[in-house]
Amino acid sequence: VKKIAVLTSGGDSQGMNAAVRAVVRSGLFHGLEVYAVQRGYAGLINDDIRQMDLRSVGDIIQRGGTILQTARCKEFMTPEGQQLGADNLRKRGIDGLVVIGGDGSYQGANKLSKLGIKTMGLPGTIDNDIPFTDLTIGFDTAVSIVVDAINKLRDTMSSHERSSVVEVMGRHCGDIALYAGLASGAETILVPEVPYDLDEVAQRMAGNFEQGKRHSIVLVAEGVGKGEDIANEITKRNGIEPRVTVLGHIQRGGAPTHNDRILASNLGDFAVRKLIEGDSGKACGIIKGELTVTDIDTVVHSKKEFNLELYELAKRLSQ
Ligand code: F6P
Repeated sequence: VKKIAVLTSGGDSQGMNAAVRAVVRSGLFHGLEVYAVQRGYAGLINDDIRQMDLRSVGDIIQRGGTILQTARCKEFMTPEGQQLGADNLRKRGIDGLVVIGGDGSYQGANKLSKLGIKTMGLPGTIDNDIPFTDLTIGFDTAVSIVVDAINKLRDTMSSHERSSVVEVMGRHCGDIALYAGLASGAETILVPEVPYDLDEVAQRMAGNFEQGKRHSIVLVAEGVGKGEDIANEITKRNGIEPRVTVLGHIQRGGAPTHNDRILASNLGDFAVRKLIEGDSGKACGIIKGELTVTDIDTVVHSKKEFNLELYELAKRLSQ
């Protein structure tokens, strides 16, 4: 490859900017021309592509969001949209593309790869729901935000001897709830991957107060249902009225943690090196500390395994 482009797509995540910076600077270091596509696949279709230099990515490593902006683009799901995107890259002589995003973004990258564009996917999503990588860019920051919020809730819950239902993001994946729940000592963690029994949840909460606990926190991944509904069901069963907090998009903003910046820097540089080596149609990841590549086709057809051991540990320790 001589000319590569980078785009961010799908829901944004903290550390996407650090990844863009790494792709641009690593590409330039290796003598490539590097381009950026604005607004994800929508920009690819609309030909919103510009050349980058070293300074184009200055002062962004510490910023949340993505300077390239992002979109969930329906038109790109059609074969015509994909062809137009590939043509817009080709007319500039761009033959390599790094896509930073989640599951949907990988599907787009997979299509482009089948149209002859050399593609590399980088896992950028707070959800940590991409298989063949232990971590996604943004997950560490999102978990830190949730832990910080629960610390604050605990203060006021303890003063009033109250319970809290906290709804966090994760449409199909309970990792944010699991990791934040273990790290903050939440009494109950509800995730889409594990069946739950509301009678047991309500009993556990009542038991928490009987055992002398001064608060009881139920962490709900949005894939399970609305925090408000869970709280109402608990009240029906035990008479306790938990306060509900929905953390929402706050989880997707703010400065990335050093872990996310380092992960993004490593993965961005790795993706460029793999393209230079001639690799294509791959998703980059990190497994047990090692940078890895897996066929995007395999990744989009697999599901991330849920860490049940960690889930059981969180349950045991929050007695
Ligand atoms: O996929 C990331 C994510 O933040 C999910 O956790 C959440 O369900 C969704 O995006 C929210 O999407 P939107 O940006 O469309 O509100």
